[in-house]
Formats: sequence, C-alpha cells, structure tokens
Amino acid sequence: MWLNRDIVSISDLNVEEIMEVIDRANKMLPYSSSGHPEKPLSDKIVATLFYEPSTRTRLSFEAAAMRLGARVLGFGALEGTSVSKGETLSDTIRIVNGYSDAIVLRHPSEGAARLASEFADVPVINAGDGAGQHPTQTILDIFTIWKESGPVSGKGIGFVGDLKYGRTVHSLSKALSLFDISLYFISPEELKIPKHIKKDIEKRVPVKETKNLDEVIEDIDVLYVTRIQKERFPDLEEYKKVAGIYVIRPSLLSRGRKNLIVMHPLPRVDEIPSEVDNLPQAKYFKQASYGVPVRMAILDLILRGD
Ligand code: NCD
Repeated sequence: MWLNRDIVSISDLNVEEIMEVIDRANKMLPYSSSGHPEKPLSDKIVATLFYEPSTRTRLSFEAAAMRLGARVLGFGALEGTSVSKGETLSDTIRIVNGYSDAIVLRHPSEGAARLASEFADVPVINAGDGAGQHPTQTILDIFTIWKESGPVSGKGIGFVGDLKYGRTVHSLSKALSLFDISLYFISPEELKIPKHIKKDIEKRVPVKETKNLDEVIEDIDVLYVTRIQKERFPDLEEYKKVAGIYVIRPSLLSRGRKNLIVMHPLPRVDEIPSEVDNLPQAKYFKQASYGVPVRMAILDLILRGD
C-alpha cells in the first residue's frame, strides 16, 4: 500500500493513513537525533531536487534519509545543474529516476510534482510546488499539534497571514477538515484562502473568515502563523500594501486561551517578534525539529513499504 507511493497532494491520503505516518513518526522520534540502529534504508539513495530556496524541508529530508542509513544526492540551487542550460523538468526527472530510489522535489510551478510523478518510476515526494501543496509539512504540522496540544478533534484552529499563496495553509487546512474541528481564516481581503479550497473545506467543518485576529483569538487553540509570500506576488507594490500586516505580540497571546499554541512553518520575517520565542505558547522551533522524525516515517514507508 505504501511501497513506491507518490506523495503529491495531501488529498492523496485519508485520515487513517495520516495517523499511520504520525504513529510511525512517534516511533522514529528517539532515532531522529541518534540514528536508527538497524539502518533500514542502507541500500537506498534519496534525491533531493530543490528548484526553490529551502532550509528546513531539504535539510530535514536529508537528515531523515541519513538517520535511516540512506545516502543522499541532489541540488539546493540551480547553478551547477543542467537546468541552467535549459533542461526541462521532465528530462531532469527521467535522468534522476535512474540514479535514485526516491525523488523529493521542490519547484516554483504548481503541478510540478504531479508532472514529475508521471515521468518517474521511483516515488516522487512533493516538497512544495509553487502556491500549490506541501503535504509532508502538513503531516509534521499535525504531528506537532498532536504532540504539543493533544488530540486534533475538538480544537479551534486559526490560520493567519498569507492564505492565498501559502501552500502550507492549503495542504494543512484541507487535511484538518477531515477532523472534527472549527477553522478560522484570518487575512486581509487580498490574501484570502482560495475559493475552491474554502468551498471544499466548508462541506465538512465550520469556517469563519475575518480580517481581525482580535475578534477570534479567544476561540483558538492552535494559531498557525504564516509569512506573506513575497516571491509569489505578481506586483511588488501589492506586496508592500500587506507586508507586516499581522504581528503576533505577547499582549495578543495573553488574551488567548490558556493552552493556546503558536505554530509557523518558518521562515518568519516580521510576523512573530523574538520576544515570543520564550513564551510557553511558542512551538515553531519544536515544529521544525519534528520534520526529521516525520520525514523518516514517510521515507521508511514508501521505500520499505511495511
Ligand atoms: C514554507 C514553504 O516553503 O512553503 N516553508 C517550509 O517549508 N517550512 C513556508 C514559507 O516559505 O513561508
């Protein structure tokens, strides 16, 4: 069921499968800092092809592969590759398919991972396709909620910031709508969650949209903060209008629920000041650290299949 499976969209997984990854990630947790004693992927090569900047996603995938004994090849920037000579994505994928057992791909175009999966026999994992999806981030986000705040069901979960271009929001809100929760989307008019995603989610869970975070802060157990995705704006002037629009200050958090947690996929720009970092609500560094056990679980499942 898992062996050689592509992970392109979070919608490819049902709740049981998401929870299966989370359960396995929890078992991987002790090995995520010391290495798995059995090195179960010692005969495997994982390729990481990153056509867009990344720190956490690429490095945590590589750390995860190495902790399981696999070897890693790939690139984190395009200079030095044939992409800079004009090679197409499909040709690059056809070639790397012959050099590796799994391909982890980040690309600026929505749909790139789906396209790559059509040209590769080895499994393709989407590590972010433009403003599309980021399914492995979603699983580590759910893992974080589960570890740091308890069962997902029954919670009020708020997304704040760039809900239009933020792929982590698109994947995570879809996945969370499979649980018994309430969703709050907090953004300026220009950065609202895309209509087709909202329509789909609203079939399953209650949704409230607002510009005003103050209005809903008391209803929220998990506040998922996002960066305004400057690089996706067609016009820099449009970006300037909304840059810095939400800043999560300690005074706001003190009005929230007692067990409120603050998450962020990172990198942050100015939406969470550093004075929040030492508050008990701040979980974003912990969240980033969970990238390793969750990606260990995913690689183990698709490369060994049991
Ligand atoms: C996010 C991304 O690349 O979508 N980062 C990540 O993978 N942790 C969020 C962002 O860039 O704002």
